[in-house]
Amino acid sequence: MTSSDSGSAPKPPAKDPWDLPDVSGLVVGVLGGTGDQGRGLAYRLGRAGQKVIIGSRAADRAAASAAELGYGVEGADNAECARRSDVVIVAVPWDGHATILASLREELAGKLVIDCVNPLGFDKKGAYALTPEEGSAAEQAAALLPDSRVTAAFHHLSAPLLQDPAVEEIATDVMVLGEVRADTDIVQALAARIPGIRGVFAGRLRNAHQVESLVANLISVNRRYKAHAGLRVTDV
Ligand SMILES: NC(=O)c1ccc[n+]([C@@H]2O[C@H](COP(=O)([O-])OP(=O)(O)OC[C@H]3O[C@@H](n4cnc5c(N)ncnc54)[C@H](OP(=O)(O)O)[C@@H]3O)[C@@H](O)[C@H]2O)c1
Repeated sequence: MTSSDSGSAPKPPAKDPWDLPDVSGLVVGVLGGTGDQGRGLAYRLGRAGQKVIIGSRAADRAAASAAELGYGVEGADNAECARRSDVVIVAVPWDGHATILASLREELAGKLVIDCVNPLGFDKKGAYALTPEEGSAAEQAAALLPDSRVTAAFHHLSAPLLQDPAVEEIATDVMVLGEVRADTDIVQALAARIPGIRGVFAGRLRNAHQVESLVANLISVNRRYKAHAGLRVTDV
C-alpha cells in the first residue's frame, strides 16, 4: 500500500537549502555603523547595490562616515536608522550592547535583527571568550527584543578586509543562526550579496556562544600568521 492509497498526502520535496529569497529591495541598517565592522559591512553591502543606513549615537558622525563610504549609504542616529530599516545589523561593542538594544526595543519591533557582536575579553595572553548571563550576545539580544526577529551572523568577517576597496572578493563562509528558517534564509541571502561570501545555516541561537567565542581563536590565528583569517565549512 502506498501513502496515497492510505489517504495521507505525499510529503513535499525537501527545500533546496541554497534556494534563497531575493533581498535586493531590503533596507539594511547598521547600529554602530561608524565603527570598523559596521563601516565594513555597510561598504560591502552598499557596493553590492543594497540600500544601507548607518546608525550612530550622533547623527552627524553617521552622516560623515556615510559620505566617506559612498554607494548611496546614508547616516542617521541609531533610532532613526532602526526605524527606517527592514533588517538591522547590531555592530556595537559588547559593553554597549544591552543598553543600546534595550533603548531601541520599540524601533526594532517587527524588524529582522542580525547580531554580530563577539563578547570577548583581552589580557596579556590575548583574546578570550566571555560568557554572557543569557548564554551569548545573540540570546541577550533576543531576550531584550521580544518583538523582533533576532538572528546572528557576520562574527568572523575581518573588518580590514571588508573595508579595503582593493579586495574584490572575500572567500569565506558566514555562520548564520536563528530560530526561523525564513529569517535565516534572508540573512544567508544578504551575506551572499558580498562577492566570495556564502551564508551557511549553523543552528539556533542557543548555539551562538560557540560561534561568537571562536573569534578569540581567529584573533590568535591572525596574530601568529599576520592574516585576516576566515572560515570555510566543507562538504556543503
Ligand atoms: N572589528 C572586527 O573585525 C569585527 C569582526 C566581527 C565582529 N565584530 C563585532 O562588531 C562589533 C563592533 O566592532 P568594531 O570593531 O566596529 O567596534 P568599535 O569600532 O569599537 O565600535 C563600533 C561603534 O559602536 C559605537 N559605540 C561605541 N561604544 C558604544 C556604546 N557603549 N554604546 C553604543 N554604541 C557604542 C560607536 O559609534 P558612535 O560613537 O558613532 O555611536 C562605534 O563607532 C563588536 O561587538 C565586535 O565584536 C567586529
